[in-house]
Amino acid sequence: MTTPILIDTHAHINFNEYDSDREEVMERAFNSGVGKILHSCCRINEIETLLKLSKQFNGNGFSDLYIAVGVHPTEFHSWDNESESEILAILDKELAQPDHKIRAIGETGLDYYHCTTGAEQEKQREIFNKQIELAKRFQLPLIIHTRDAESDTLNILEAHFKNTKSDRNGTIHCFTGSQDFALACIELGFFISWSGILTFKSSKSLREVAKVVPLEKTLVETDCPFLAPQAQRGKRNEPSYVNYVAEQLSEIKGLGKTEIMNITTQNAEYLFKI
Ligand code: NI
Repeated sequence: MTTPILIDTHAHINFNEYDSDREEVMERAFNSGVGKILHSCCRINEIETLLKLSKQFNGNGFSDLYIAVGVHPTEFHSWDNESESEILAILDKELAQPDHKIRAIGETGLDYYHCTTGAEQEKQREIFNKQIELAKRFQLPLIIHTRDAESDTLNILEAHFKNTKSDRNGTIHCFTGSQDFALACIELGFFISWSGILTFKSSKSLREVAKVVPLEKTLVETDCPFLAPQAQRGKRNEPSYVNYVAEQLSEIKGLGKTEIMNITTQNAEYLFKI
């Protein structure tokens, strides 16, 4: 019997919060059962570092690190005319390598909490649409960030995916939305990913949503260094803490943690081919 593992499907290990102990963090993740991590990407100028990190952390005592490529909605100003061709060139080159570890486009999406003007939101929608086109072109799943923008996010996803039959279109990362939104996204071929927010004392209604979301459509993540779970709240978050999210989910679903580990890992392996 193989030992169950967890997959942290959303982390930012390149951030300078880890500059002094990145290897220890990755070792600690591995030793806590986190066999694989998917590293999200916020800006094009991070990609080179992510490619390096994905080579450095390759199992062998560390969690195996896979990466995404994309531009975060709040980083929309970093996207210019050349960005699209730059990302295209990177994907063309890297995806041709037999041992590449690029497994998703993202994180992309809409963030109307941080960007409140019509012009900013328009630009976010524009680069969201462009990244969805990239994902379709390279047949990669999307990592979607959405905040205070459920209805526009859903409209855009419907426009692109309503008539596709794929159940591997991506994930709604760090889910904080409504039950209706979760179920509509699942209908469009997306998974729902829970972060440490699920463990917060104040997240009672979110736990109600998690009760309804089918386990076979569920992923777990940390979004570290942000959003440390309740038990570590206020501290720097790290991939090993995805264990707290799995424990919370096991309580919500009334199932053993091993079962939660097995199913969410199977889901992440299926969605991201990792
Ligand atoms: Ni993130």
